[in-house]
Amino acid sequence: MVGKDKIDDCLSTRGGRLFIESFDTVEIVKQFGSPVFVVSEDQLRRNIRRFQKSFEAGWTDGPVKVMPAAKASWNAALQHIIAGEGCGCDVYSAGELAVALAAGFDPQYISVNGVPKDRDHIFHSIKEGARVTIDGMEEFDVIEQAAGQLNTIAKVRLRMKPAISGFTKYSDFVPTGPLSTDLAALAYKGGLSREAVIYIAKQIQKSKRVELVGFHQHHGRHDPSVRYWEEQMKSYAGEIGVVCEALGGFQPKEIDIGGGFACPRDPFASEVKYSEPYEYLVLYGLSRLLSFFPALRYKVLSRIIDKAILFIPNQKMAPSIEEYGSACTKTLKRELTQRGINTKGLMLQVEPGRSLHGNTGIHLTTVKSIKKMKEPITWNIAAVDTTEFWFTGGRYEHHVYDYIFANKTNAPLNDKMDVVGRSCYGDRLFPAIRVPGDLAPGDIMAILDVGAYQEVSMSNFNAMPRPATLLVGGDKISVIRSAETQEDVFRRDVIPHHLKLTDRASIKQAV
Ligand SMILES: Cc1ncc(COP(=O)(O)O)c(C=O)c1O
Repeated sequence: MVGKDKIDDCLSTRGGRLFIESFDTVEIVKQFGSPVFVVSEDQLRRNIRRFQKSFEAGWTDGPVKVMPAAKASWNAALQHIIAGEGCGCDVYSAGELAVALAAGFDPQYISVNGVPKDRDHIFHSIKEGARVTIDGMEEFDVIEQAAGQLNTIAKVRLRMKPAISGFTKYSDFVPTGPLSTDLAALAYKGGLSREAVIYIAKQIQKSKRVELVGFHQHHGRHDPSVRYWEEQMKSYAGEIGVVCEALGGFQPKEIDIGGGFACPRDPFASEVKYSEPYEYLVLYGLSRLLSFFPALRYKVLSRIIDKAILFIPNQKMAPSIEEYGSACTKTLKRELTQRGINTKGLMLQVEPGRSLHGNTGIHLTTVKSIKKMKEPITWNIAAVDTTEFWFTGGRYEHHVYDYIFANKTNAPLNDKMDVVGRSCYGDRLFPAIRVPGDLAPGDIMAILDVGAYQEVSMSNFNAMPRPATLLVGGDKISVIRSAETQEDVFRRDVIPHHLKLTDRASIKQAV
């Protein structure tokens, strides 16, 4: 577990066991079963308050609203906690809007994002008084119609896509994308071109039913560094300046900088020894060459593989929330002022997802089977009772999470294994990682920092019922999403009448 001393963490180790807040994770598994997601309410509240304080410290001219991205964790109980802390909310879909409204967020601080947006969703958002963040040429007409029919004024923002031309590093967020951070952000579907922003804004200026209250931007977590945020704010302020000038000196009332800041134990950029292109090519070349010497091949390869293949979770901590808040607010204020934008009374909004939820959640899974192979190559496998299909957000983003063995926190990690999940795919949850030498069935692995995007992206592959989610807060532990049953998995399946086979005889006949 990296960075324990550097982060305000809900995790601690005592007597060789992992605790989340005051709860022993081994006891949690005994009581609630395995696998299970566990979220810390206290960590969530601490994170929210740190965001609020850090941004307020640097943004003194106007109010600050922390508007956590519901997509990262739209569980109803968690949304209630966030609303209760006085936050706003960023929602993507009609479902997320529904959970946000039920949680009690003030609708004027709900940003309705997303592309494309359904007509009904836009109508409903406007009816509820939520802020539609326009991200499509087609949206304005629908918004104006909705406002007309509902006899209201729709307050909207425009989602920009400024080019972060001052930051052109490789993006480990989209390793398959167009290489550098700025290009990857421009190629992303979210956000409108400058021409589109100005075009729609001018339509809004002519409308009696729609009011433009501000701007929005969001780029993904392309880089965790403070410099990336400074460059983002520079380009955002520059874009706002150009657009406001084109609109005849328009002054926004709210500016939303989106999310994209990293989780403290940032699960990106893990060290993958063998996938360095050079090493990989050498290994592959050697493997091909040695196919002419079958007796030697496995012997030589086994030795090299054992030394060369090892995955290590990222050991480099992201900057703190305070460093991030300070970089954003200072740069934005300076750059906006330089461009003639009055920051007095201007509301600043931030939509953290992974950086707010990530380190609030862990996943506990039990080792079920150990397979050790010595010949023809050395390869060890530990199969656990969870699956990569319950971490699809992380798989999509190529995460290697940090981990700890919850009942053996003091054990030296002196062996190497693939930790694989239970689905029928290869399911290499943790390929070739360090594990305790005495790892055995019954041991509990804690997968860390999975509070964002994972629990909400689970699927039912292999007809597996999805596990429960627990909330720990103070001395209370509660189920906040119950485990699915086998019945739940098949609940939406319908067998048309003509396919129904009632007895074995009719099955035979059908065959
Ligand atoms: C509009 C918007 N805001 C905020 C976020 C949260 O991003 P992150 O989890 O990287 O902080 C997202 C994520 O995609 C988003 O699309």
